[in-house]
Amino acid sequence: MSTAISPTAYNYKVVRQFAIMTVVWGILGMGLGVFIASQLVWPELNFGLPWTTFGRLRPLHTNLVIFAFGGCALFATSYYVVQRTCQTRLISDSLAAFHFWGWQAVIIGAIVTLPLGYTTTKEYAELEWPLAILLAIVWVTYGLVFFGTIVKRKTKHIYVGNWFYGAFIVVTAMLHIVNHMSLPVSLFKSYSAYSGATDAMIQWWYGHNAVGFFLTTGFLGMMYYFVPKQAERPIYSYRLSIVHFWALITLYIWAGPHHLHYTALPDWAQSLGMAMSIILLAPSWGGMINGMMTLSGAWHKLRTDPILRFLVVSLAFYGMSTFEGPMMAIKTVNSLSHYTDWTIGHVHAGALGWVAMISIGAIYHMIPKLFGRVQMHSIGLINTHFWLATIGTVLYIASMWVNGITQGLMWRAINDDGTLTYSFVEALQASHPGFIVRALGGAFFASGMLFMAYNVWRTVRASNPAEAKAAEQIAVVGAH
Ligand code: HEM
Ligand code: HEM
Repeated sequence: MSTAISPTAYNYKVVRQFAIMTVVWGILGMGLGVFIASQLVWPELNFGLPWTTFGRLRPLHTNLVIFAFGGCALFATSYYVVQRTCQTRLISDSLAAFHFWGWQAVIIGAIVTLPLGYTTTKEYAELEWPLAILLAIVWVTYGLVFFGTIVKRKTKHIYVGNWFYGAFIVVTAMLHIVNHMSLPVSLFKSYSAYSGATDAMIQWWYGHNAVGFFLTTGFLGMMYYFVPKQAERPIYSYRLSIVHFWALITLYIWAGPHHLHYTALPDWAQSLGMAMSIILLAPSWGGMINGMMTLSGAWHKLRTDPILRFLVVSLAFYGMSTFEGPMMAIKTVNSLSHYTDWTIGHVHAGALGWVAMISIGAIYHMIPKLFGRVQMHSIGLINTHFWLATIGTVLYIASMWVNGITQGLMWRAINDDGTLTYSFVEALQASHPGFIVRALGGAFFASGMLFMAYNVWRTVRASNPAEAKAAEQIAVVGAH
């Protein structure tokens, strides 16, 4: 096949910016995770100041890791994937730049307002109304750039990865706007437009689908591009990927009530959420198997390619957390796991094992290509990072399983006379060793990110502007 240089080039500037910020926010967000994990081991680290208490820093951690780290990884990869699979440049450079700077402004806003105590109190939707409006405007801009680029594509087909990114963009906009409906009473305070059980239902419809569409569907878009690319194999089954897409998006949206078991929410809604969550196992595993089987005939590459290891192990953790989730959604299991560290372990099996690992693999894949280099500065350092991340994740989730089950069983233990066997403080004391192991696991994971930063910096520094410019050329393959 002949290749020709096209007169237009990809917009890699915005991809590079988001890719670099993924690493920066990853270090800050996970560093803060290690800090709050340490506060649970040594409460003195709250420093007796309101701004540095666990209660204020915890939402900052979740905002930084989900929206800053995870968001930047999704934006970098989606802009890279949509341009390459559509063989065209982003529809507008200025709108893409607005997206980049607007998003960083929202994150800075979170870093300032959350420690000051400004919060809507809705989990994962804490940002007060001025920032929530800015976020909505930036998001719509993102949608315009992404879908505009799809419209002007040079290819006939829309690659399946873009379907997943597209669903993530549309549904996140819908969730954010509906859940944030509120009445502002001052510049920094608003009250939800909903009340009571309705408010709780809307919040967990949002919360669960933030998991389903932000932390899952977008990253599946990443999986469908970077796993085949890195393995140099076509996706195992294109037909399965289409079934996977439609099944996943039609089922996820109903599962939110599993966050509200045994509450004032009507019982039928709880049971519906439980049933839908169990069914959700099927498309989740369908997707995982599709990714894993893409390696058929290429398994030997895992021996030498740590980037592929990141991608494949992330799929293993995805499979694990999407098995655990449906189990925890069963009401009787949830009566044990809810409020305990088991939930925290489940969250981080998904967050560290799946979301962070697939992002790290994708960024390692992209960085040399974005800067016109053949490969990362050091493959050995990627391998070191891989082991730190894997060991860190295992320590984190294993300690939280032990803690979670211990807490659940101690809280429900009763004496013959009906009184509680253990006080709350006794369960807390029993959790202390687990907190230490979790902080250690987190430190492993976060230190791996420092190796990544060094490796990325060396790769970028070795590149020159001419090489970076050449990387942007659209290589038109074949006749067109
Ligand atoms: C089939 C897939 C999944 C199902 C059915 C599921 C189900 C559940 C259940 C039942 C809970 C506990 C709710 C509670 O007791 O409060 C939960 C919590 C959670 N899950 Fe999953 N899960 C799934 C996959 C994932 C994945 C892949 C991630 C991350 C990438 C994730 C992130 C979370 C988060 C962040 C929470 C905590 C929410 C909170 O209380 O703040 N889940 N999930
Ligand atoms: C070095 C890595 C990390 C460490 C040490 C860490 C630590 C923590 C700690 C200590 C908590 C509070 C737990 C509690 O309230 O008992 C937490 C909550 C949370 N973290 Fe992380 N974290 C890390 C990375 C991440 C990443 C990469 C993500 C997402 C992509 C994430 C998402 C969350 C979420 C969603 C919660 C709230 C869970 C819930 O409410 O159920 N974390 N983390």
